[in-house]
This record gives sequence, structure tokens and C-alpha cells, in this order.
Amino acid sequence: MCKMRRFISLWLWISCWYGISAYAQVEIRATYREPFRPIYHFTPPVNWMNDPNGLVFNQGKYHLFYQYNPFGMEWGHMSWGHAVSRDLIHWENWPIAIPEGPEGMVFSGSAVVDSFNTSGLGSLTHPPIVAIYTSHHILDSLHPQVYTQSQHLAYSLDGGRTWKKYTHNPVLDLHMKDFRDPKVFWYAPHHVWIMAVSFPTQHQIHFFQSADLIHWQHTGSFGPAGDTTDVWECPDLFPLPVYDAAGRSTGKTKWVLMVSVQYNVQYFIGDFDGKTFRADDSSTILRVDDGPDFYAATTYNDLPASDPRRICIAWMDNWAYAAHIPTFPWRGFMTVPRVFHLQPNAKRKLRLYQYPVDEINRLAMDSITWHHRHIDATHPWQIDEYPFTCGKLSLHISHIHKRFQVIVAQHDSLGIWISYDARSGRLQVDRTHSGLTDFDHHFSTTATVDLLPQKELQLDIFLDKSSVEIFVNKGEKAITMLFFPRPEQTGISLQAWGGSCRIDSLKLIRFVQQKNMIP
Ligand code: FRU
Repeated sequence: MCKMRRFISLWLWISCWYGISAYAQVEIRATYREPFRPIYHFTPPVNWMNDPNGLVFNQGKYHLFYQYNPFGMEWGHMSWGHAVSRDLIHWENWPIAIPEGPEGMVFSGSAVVDSFNTSGLGSLTHPPIVAIYTSHHILDSLHPQVYTQSQHLAYSLDGGRTWKKYTHNPVLDLHMKDFRDPKVFWYAPHHVWIMAVSFPTQHQIHFFQSADLIHWQHTGSFGPAGDTTDVWECPDLFPLPVYDAAGRSTGKTKWVLMVSVQYNVQYFIGDFDGKTFRADDSSTILRVDDGPDFYAATTYNDLPASDPRRICIAWMDNWAYAAHIPTFPWRGFMTVPRVFHLQPNAKRKLRLYQYPVDEINRLAMDSITWHHRHIDATHPWQIDEYPFTCGKLSLHISHIHKRFQVIVAQHDSLGIWISYDARSGRLQVDRTHSGLTDFDHHFSTTATVDLLPQKELQLDIFLDKSSVEIFVNKGEKAITMLFFPRPEQTGISLQAWGGSCRIDSLKLIRFVQQKNMIP
């Protein structure tokens, strides 16, 4: 019976594969000039993309793998798509790295450079790159909700160009339904590999260790804690440098456990002893990003010793409406790569701070700066002479009497409305009038962030064709949002309500399109 089932499922899989490849002959080509196509955020040329996977640096190249459907613009046939960059900004599309197979779809996971060839899959002179991912195996093709998940391994012996699935997969199988998204890294103090992997429905992250990436031994677990309102996915565990309130390094580090919980990413600060993670405070819910479009965040493995940064990329989208966003012929965006550190905030609590990688400044095409302008309800400031759709807008505002507001991607009453109330400390980012919003009723939202009430504010707004990433007070808070504007939405408008405020400086840097994204 079981053999028969397997035969039927293999047969269904093969016929489906051939059917789809014949269909795929009608090829849709990306021009990178489509409406809403970003100029500096990573998007796949065509088809569906979700989580970033296997972020790893090897021999001068940053690899970005991602959850990818090679056959369509909706979720399915999950495989690992692949892109490579030398600077985290200009990406080159490489062929699909790990395709789905009869054993299952290739779900999220991570990759490491096995420099000492601990796995024995390469050699010391040609160390393998090893990917560990979740294989999602549907047991009954008529009922996709009947599945199991286990951890599989694939490796590359040519710097990530081609990949082989390990013949003795799975490498970790607990015979569980939901057990996914392994993050593997080298823990130097114990000379072992560590895996942090999720038990999604139990709101737990479990830790395993291995000497060879193949045999895994359970060492501990964390959770339930913090936000348990939905499944826990895509864990990541890493040390971060601790800065002082002035933003200077203290030489100390703390460990951070990051976990995605629909529709946000939460994090815990604590310690890791090589076996398990303990949070300093496991009840306060801390969010990495306060916008609606930041999910499945993960960080790079194996950056060289000369680059001590912890660099994160997240899926800039939201499961609530991802299937309906009005882009074509692709669906799915990545955030700009961001550098993390820990720092006490204005309320003196240690928090995760983040800011886009410096490399992004290489995209600067032109810039203009203004200083010391006063605005109030009767003297707003409208900037139309520098059409602004892609780039960075840095603003330092002080003497805010009551409410300050900046609208980007503005035209008439359309735009992304960013307003700050100096009395309550509340910052709001409103996309309800940002262009196309009615493709899904979950989309029309306003994000809210509560800051310490202050009369001054620093905003760094990274705008692209269809997204905005706002970094508040040099990375104390981040708000990430997609939006789908009309072409004429190129203005910037600044206003003050209930009294005046002073724009100490406004710097506008416009970005140029990544050259090698144009086919
Ligand atoms: C998170 C997630 C992961 C899973 C992948 C499947 O967005 O649900 O848990 O591995 O997407 O595509």
C-alpha cells in the first residue's frame, strides 16, 4: 500500500514536472523596467519569491538564496533560487541552486562554508559550501495538508554554481509534521556546528550540535516566550556588539535570537553557552521592524574576519496579501541589507539597532542639501523641483512644537504620510492613500511606533519604486512598507501642525539603477 502510494506520488510529480516545463516554453522575460520594479532592492526576474535563505559569504561573493517557485507567480514548487553579489547591492542572477524533487519541496534553511571539510563532502583544498534546509514532503498528493518536515543537506564543490543533494538525506528527522527552517553556524569556542531550528506550532526553537553537519545531537530549547500568537518560523541566533548610548562600541557582545511570527519578526536578547539560549527578558515583545513588510529575516554566515558586521536581509512582504500584490512578471521583494548592533535607546533599554549597509551609497547619482528652514501650518514646504522616487532622504528636525509631517511619493493627496507627535512621541506611517491599495483589504494600513516624546527627530528614508524603509534616530526603530504609487507621485511635502518646527537639515540623495540588473 505504502509502495503503491509512493509510486503514485512519484508518477504525479513527474507528469506535473513535464506538464509545467512544456507550459514554461511560453517564456516571460523580465525587462527590469516594469511598473513597480525596484531599482536597488533585490527581486527575482520572474515568478514568486519569499524568504531569503542560505545567506553566506564565500571567496569575495555574497550569496543570496531564496524561496522560489520556478513555475509561477504564486507560492508552490518551492526551490532555492540564487543570486550573487560582490557588494550586496548589485546582484547577478544565477541558475536555480536546489530544485524541489520527488522527496519534497525545498523550504527555508541556511548555508555554511565547511572550511575544514568536517563533512568529508569536499576536501581541504576545495571546501564544500553546505546548505541545510527543510524538506517538506507531502504524504498524500490529494491532501497537501498531510505532510512531514525533516532537515536535508545539499552541497556545492564549485563555489555555489552547482549543487548536489546528499544521498543519505535526511540528516535530521524527528518524524514531526512541523519542524523547519534550520539556521546552522560554526561555534568556534566548542569547535562545533550549531543548528537553531523551529518547532513552529509549539512556539519553540530547539538547538542541536554536530561535528560534521551530518550527525546532530539535541542540546537545548527556548520557548514558548514573547509573541506566541502564531507559528514560529525562521529562527536565527547570533552574537551582536553592544554599543553605548552615544553609539560607540563597548567591546561587549550579547546573543540575539530572532524568530518570525506572522506578520512580524520578534527578537530576544540574552546569552548562548553553546548548548542553549537564555533570554534576559522573555516576556517583553520586541520587534526588529515595526512596519508590515519585514518577515523571515536572516543574517549572513562566514563574513571574513576583516568584516565584523552582522548583515541581515528580510523578505519585504507579508503573507496576508503577498499573493495579491500587483507586480508582474515577478512577486516578492527583499529588504535592503542592514547591519545590526545593540544599543541602549532613549529609554535606556538595550535594543537592536539597524541601518542599511554603507555600500548603498555607491548608488548615489546626485544630491542636494538644505539647512535651517522653519515651517508651520501656513508655511509648508513643497519640493517638486527634484522628482524623488528612488534614493535616500535624511532629515533632522528640531523645535517641534506639536506635530511634524513629511509626505514622500507625494502628488495631491497621495503619498506615504509620516507624522510625528512630539507630545506623545508617537510616529505614524500611513499608506492608506499611497496609490494602488485595493488589491487586498489587508493592505491599507498605518504603522505606529512609540518613541520617547522629544522635540527633535532624525529620519533616514530609503525610497524605491514601490517601497519605503524608514530608520528613526539612527536605527533605533525601522519601519518597512511596500506601496504601489502612480508615476506622478514624485514630490516631497513637509508640514507642521499646532506650531512651527525647524528643519535643521534635509539631504536628498537620488540613486541610480543597478547596472547589472538591466538584462
Ligand atoms: C516562512 C515560511 C517558512 C518555510 C517557507 C516556505 O515564510 O513559511 O517557515 O520554510 O516559508 O516557503
